[in-house]
Amino acid sequence: MELFPIRRFLSRDGRAAEKQAAPAPPRMKSLMESGCAPFDFREKAVVVTGASRGIGREVAERFYEAGASVAICSRKQQDIDRAKDEMAGDDRSRVFGMEADVSKLLELNAFLQGAADQFGRIDILVNNAGVQFPKPSVEVSEEDWDATLDTNLKGYFFAARFAAMDMMGRKAAGTIINIGSVNAVTVVQGMAVYAASKAAISQLTKSLGREWAGSNIRVNCVAPGFVPTSINAAVLDKPAQLRAIEERLPLGRGGTVSEIADAVMFLASDYSSYITGQTLYVDGGITLLHG
Ligand SMILES: NC(=O)c1ccc[n+]([C@@H]2O[C@H](COP(=O)([O-])OP(=O)(O)OC[C@H]3O[C@@H](n4cnc5c(N)ncnc54)[C@H](OP(=O)(O)O)[C@@H]3O)[C@@H](O)[C@H]2O)c1
Repeated sequence: MELFPIRRFLSRDGRAAEKQAAPAPPRMKSLMESGCAPFDFREKAVVVTGASRGIGREVAERFYEAGASVAICSRKQQDIDRAKDEMAGDDRSRVFGMEADVSKLLELNAFLQGAADQFGRIDILVNNAGVQFPKPSVEVSEEDWDATLDTNLKGYFFAARFAAMDMMGRKAAGTIINIGSVNAVTVVQGMAVYAASKAAISQLTKSLGREWAGSNIRVNCVAPGFVPTSINAAVLDKPAQLRAIEERLPLGRGGTVSEIADAVMFLASDYSSYITGQTLYVDGGITLLHG
């Protein structure tokens, strides 16, 4: 029996981590890994920002596999082209990809408009593109601040507004999922600006959820704990540090991109039709360590 398939530790591009990943306790399989496909997103147009790798890439692929038309962006055209190829092969009718920096409103709007033009609508938005620049607060530059807040907060707000206006214009229901972080409620040294941006996302989720509930637009947040993707590159090639992080976690291991995608799919589906404004922590119990 395969108790510990290495893929569970990996991001989509986490080949480097493959060799270093430490053994972890066996765990329940995620829905996807169990071969269970409870989600049906045929006829849905889904936008996922920051989908060239990591969590966003997995989320985009999962929606595509569930029948949706999927629009993806990142800041590098060649990465988006590769993601499109690997996701859809020659059949590009259900995939739209564009180089776009979500921290720049013109580029973000061009991407969202391109998606809406190709698919005729936006039914589901996953705000995922995020950055972090871990360092002591006394060393944070104005550029660090702007890049973090403009990507993790400004980009989310304006993408959500674009999608909501599209939904309202068609008098159609829709869902928006913001990828937050446990850093919204935990305290980790060197993460002040990132944590502030993610705390803001949880509150933005509540405000927009309240504001747009009357238009049948649900807004929720999925807040991952530790998932070994390239955003955590600093520790991925340090097996001892990686193991120390994972041993501290109540479930004894980092999460997988697939487990984060499970939560996103749930919140995008009708299985969560009475949930809005919430932050769902998908964190192996990290938040439990903080009371
Ligand atoms: N992994 C974790 O442990 C963890 C924990 C909590 C929360 N999160 C959150 O989960 C989300 C995804 O993170 P991840 O772990 O998958 O990170 P990742 O592997 O670094 O992937 C980030 C993705 O976003 C894209 N991106 C970054 N900045 C962008 C911008 N300004 N415009 C457009 N695309 C941009 C990246 O491509 P380019 O760089 O080529 O643009 C990449 O496709 C982030 O919001 C992150 O804060 C992650």
